[in-house]
Amino acid sequence: MQTSTSIKQSTFAKDILAGLTSTPKSISSKYFYDDEGSRLFMEIMKLPEYYLTKSEFEIFSEHTAEIFDAFTSDASEFDLIELGAGDGTKTAVLIDHFLKRNVDFTYTPIDISKEACDALSTKFKARFPELKIETQNGDYFQILESLKIKSSRRKILLFLGSNIGNFNREQAVDFFKQLRQVMHDNDLLFVGFDLQKDPHVILNAYDDAQGVTAAFNLNLLNRINRELGANFDLSKFSYYAMYRPVECAARSFLISREKQTVSIEALDRSFDFDQWEAIFMEISQKYSPVLIKEIAGESGFAIDITFYDNKNYYCDSLWRPI
Ligand code: AVI
Repeated sequence: MQTSTSIKQSTFAKDILAGLTSTPKSISSKYFYDDEGSRLFMEIMKLPEYYLTKSEFEIFSEHTAEIFDAFTSDASEFDLIELGAGDGTKTAVLIDHFLKRNVDFTYTPIDISKEACDALSTKFKARFPELKIETQNGDYFQILESLKIKSSRRKILLFLGSNIGNFNREQAVDFFKQLRQVMHDNDLLFVGFDLQKDPHVILNAYDDAQGVTAAFNLNLLNRINRELGANFDLSKFSYYAMYRPVECAARSFLISREKQTVSIEALDRSFDFDQWEAIFMEISQKYSPVLIKEIAGESGFAIDITFYDNKNYYCDSLWRPI
């Protein structure tokens, strides 16, 4: 159990303090994924407006054999390691194919949420009894450190779902450089990128009619209430999403509907919000093939092959260390 001192000194508490004392106020989207946040994100992935998951699923379903060939072009055995695995629906398509092709591989999904990890493990063990699966639960930046000393077999790292879009450009390059550090020269990295498209399509994906994305954002205030002893009144905040086509980025905010003060026990302080003041919650960057190539090069990778869906909404790009 965490003591009140350790809660105060936790990275979560420190990040919330830094975010709520900055201008504009912000809360890092990496904290969306407590168990309830992970559940809500799985609902988002099923929404009609949220095309990202469907596009990536289409790529995996329609290019399965080509993806298999690309993964096994110069090594017949490998360890598949998925960062931020979620419910694994898309990866199941690949796993099913790999098992049928009798390739020697293991699957290690990593997720922040323990509930998501356990659910994935149970589901995959039932569906694929012959699969060698070992889930890892926690912050994947920390777990990646331990991969350095893992087996010397080829590792294929999967970073799907355009998760990279939740970093700004500089953070994305830093992240890929860190990955490069823990990879051997013959390892591969398979990354999903959401592409630029009609801005209306993008905006709708982050402003769904059922309000699931709003609930997903507001859930983070609940998490702060529960874990840090805050008194956010969720009815006094509303969700707002926008897309900026020049920067090719969707951004989401929680808006304080009235002037109010919120106290956070673990931080021993309170925070004033003006009426209509915004808390910046998340960036979801959209990419062009040129930008993807630039980021790969700056991070120490070359692109082997990139797969697109039929609408060119999305792509999965296979990178090799240079
Ligand atoms: C996880 N990540 C790629 C999602 C996205 O599209 O930025 C998170 C999300 N936020 C709102 N809807 C989905």
